[in-house]
Amino acid sequence: MTSVIIDCDPGLDDAIAILLAIKHLNVVGITTVSGNESIEKVTTNALKVLELGGATHIPVVRGSDRPLKRDPVYAPHFHGESGMGGADLPAPTKVPLEGHAVEFIIEVGMSASDLVLISIGPLTNIATALRKEPRLRERVKLISMMGGSVTNGNVTPAAEFNVYHDAEAADIVFRAKIPIFMAGLNLTGQVLVGQKEIGVIRTINNGAAQVVADLLNFYVTASERLGARGASLHDPCAVMAVIEPDMIEFESMHVVVETSGDHTYGMTVCDRRAGALGRRKDERSNSVWDEIDDQLSRPKQANVEVGVSIDRERFFFFLVETLQRY
Ligand code: RIB
Ligand code: CA
Repeated sequence: MTSVIIDCDPGLDDAIAILLAIKHLNVVGITTVSGNESIEKVTTNALKVLELGGATHIPVVRGSDRPLKRDPVYAPHFHGESGMGGADLPAPTKVPLEGHAVEFIIEVGMSASDLVLISIGPLTNIATALRKEPRLRERVKLISMMGGSVTNGNVTPAAEFNVYHDAEAADIVFRAKIPIFMAGLNLTGQVLVGQKEIGVIRTINNGAAQVVADLLNFYVTASERLGARGASLHDPCAVMAVIEPDMIEFESMHVVVETSGDHTYGMTVCDRRAGALGRRKDERSNSVWDEIDDQLSRPKQANVEVGVSIDRERFFFFLVETLQRY
């Protein structure tokens, strides 16, 4: 059975993603990374969410407390000071596993034959693990990540938060030649929730669903206050891509991360030009670009499966059905 590690920065949408994943996937560990909030807060929140989901058998392993190069940039305006705005969960009864998330990812990756990494925070832990143990490139079957965007950013006009928080780490991961599913803002923005959806979840009579409704209420209020039409279920999209990939339409693209632009730092530059689309790593392309010698303009071969559309109704039905199982 495929082993899954969720690398996260809970975070309201991370919490929902974890509750979705543990009912459908063989989650062998939750690793935490500085992102929405400090490593201390996101690690405590991960413990709380597993307790809420009755899954305290799954270890939580504390990870990187800062990006590879830049200073951390937190997001309390979306997730609250605690990182779990709207929910007053009890202090966790469990503590994190001894050791660092990077070592945990390496250990599981080198022992399991088919590790899938679900990355729903900055990519600092995963990039560091790849640097320390390059052989992971052949061992990790897939990285399903929430991050980047084919179109607009959220933390800047060009960059999405997870990639922006540590663009150097994201650059390492995108160059690693590991199969990647990318759930960027262009996709996650199709899964908007508002008070109507909260009302549906509120009718589910169990603790986990009620907490999800509380978290979403905080998230929707914060999002609408900042001008959005609702709250995007960002992180659950990266989980859904593993559980039910046919719920999402993907396009093969070459994606590279900007790590130096004054205005574009953290941008995922996605190549949708004809020659890049559909050109997978191992296919000889017969596109028109083959006749063009200009190496600069010629599209590089695709390195990422980029989510471009998602069945929103099916997604929300699947989430509600999962919450009913708690
Ligand atoms: O841009 C959205 C991402 O940033 C999500 O993972 C959210 O949890 C925040 O980490
Ligand atoms: Ca997150």
